[in-house]
Amino acid sequence: MTTNPSSRVGLLARAPGCGASLSGMTHGNRGKDAASQKFDTLAIHAGQEPDPLTGAVVPPIYATSTYHQDAVGELRDGYEYSRTKNPTRLALEECLAALEGGARGLAFASGMAAEDTLLRTLCKPGDHAVIPNDAYGGTYRLFSKVLEPWGLSWTAAKLSDVDSVRQAVTEDTKVIWVETPTNPLLGIADIAALAEVAREARAALVVDNTFASPYLQQPLGLGAHVVVHSTTKYIGGHSDVVGGAVIVKDPELGERVAFHQNSVGGIAGPFDAWLTLRGVKTLGVRMDRHCYNAERIAEYLCGHPRVSAVLYPGLVDHPGHDVAGKQMRRYGGMVSFRLADGEAAAVRACNRAKLFVLGESLGGVESLIEHPGRMTHASAAGSPLEVPGDLVRLSVGIEDVDDLLADLEQALHE
Ligand SMILES: Cc1ncc(COP(=O)(O)O)c(C=O)c1O
Repeated sequence: MTTNPSSRVGLLARAPGCGASLSGMTHGNRGKDAASQKFDTLAIHAGQEPDPLTGAVVPPIYATSTYHQDAVGELRDGYEYSRTKNPTRLALEECLAALEGGARGLAFASGMAAEDTLLRTLCKPGDHAVIPNDAYGGTYRLFSKVLEPWGLSWTAAKLSDVDSVRQAVTEDTKVIWVETPTNPLLGIADIAALAEVAREARAALVVDNTFASPYLQQPLGLGAHVVVHSTTKYIGGHSDVVGGAVIVKDPELGERVAFHQNSVGGIAGPFDAWLTLRGVKTLGVRMDRHCYNAERIAEYLCGHPRVSAVLYPGLVDHPGHDVAGKQMRRYGGMVSFRLADGEAAAVRACNRAKLFVLGESLGGVESLIEHPGRMTHASAAGSPLEVPGDLVRLSVGIEDVDDLLADLEQALHE
């Protein structure tokens, strides 16, 4: 966190080579050497061979619920019913698995459907989970209002403090749930260090990689067992589709999640899977621009007299800066800041923004501004996850950064 006006602002160069290794990949991209291909190539080709029937370069939208069987029980390539398997969804699943360096990917109707299905695969009533003390509000609601009554207990811990996570673990802990960077305070957790805690506890380390995207951070390579995404955000990238994903390192766990996915039914439909797959092709180029714009905006806010604190892991005095530099390629497109004049000033800035769209969600090409305390995190009011009232969150888009800076200048002008 950078406090104004005294502290010096600076941004480290990107961490070298972070997130680039995808060794061991075999799925998707049939006929080509996917194991040696780099991120931007996989984003365009993994799981996306030309259609075998027509040669269509883009995987078609298979809008079908069922499939002709050649004889009773004789399926074509395992296709029986689209809740279980659909070619458009499979293309997305293979692509996401390749991008995260996982053995298997599974695409869901939303990030929350992915989280719920995963947690009910990994846990049973009587088990315990450790969750971030500044988790995404919907994740907190899932644990506290849905899974706790089902029988899953949980403890919220400060994930940037590895010892406090270790202390929160009990003999019933089956899951350590990680967000990094966190939403909306942009805290950073050391994935490799938490993987060690999970190993000692014999628990699964799950990383919600929504804020970073696989372009910036690949948790499976750092020791995590599972990655979760709200693909609604950077992966889809255009604010036009809601979706979620689970990517696992272990194929056997992949089978178990697939069993639950089919049993519970929260799958991504073919139209949504197709839109998400179209978005993911440009993930790398979009993320570079998101990061560039966010770095410029964080620097600008650090020098603004009405801003009391800027929360961005790219700032050298952010407490998680070094860890972020170790595990991320760059520092992401999300910037939060606090207003010296308190909550009313924060709300005013949100209402005055013109180019920054006032709205929830994040990760799209257009810039968004929001007041977490009254919008995305309103449900955390009065809980340990309550966020400060003077906080504003920006999802920095890929517009021309000079226009974004001009909009912030007028929105912050009193
Ligand atoms: C970090 C994070 N995880 C999960 C979710 C839930 O995803 P969805 O809205 O696609 O259900 C969100 C949504 O904002 C999120 O920000």
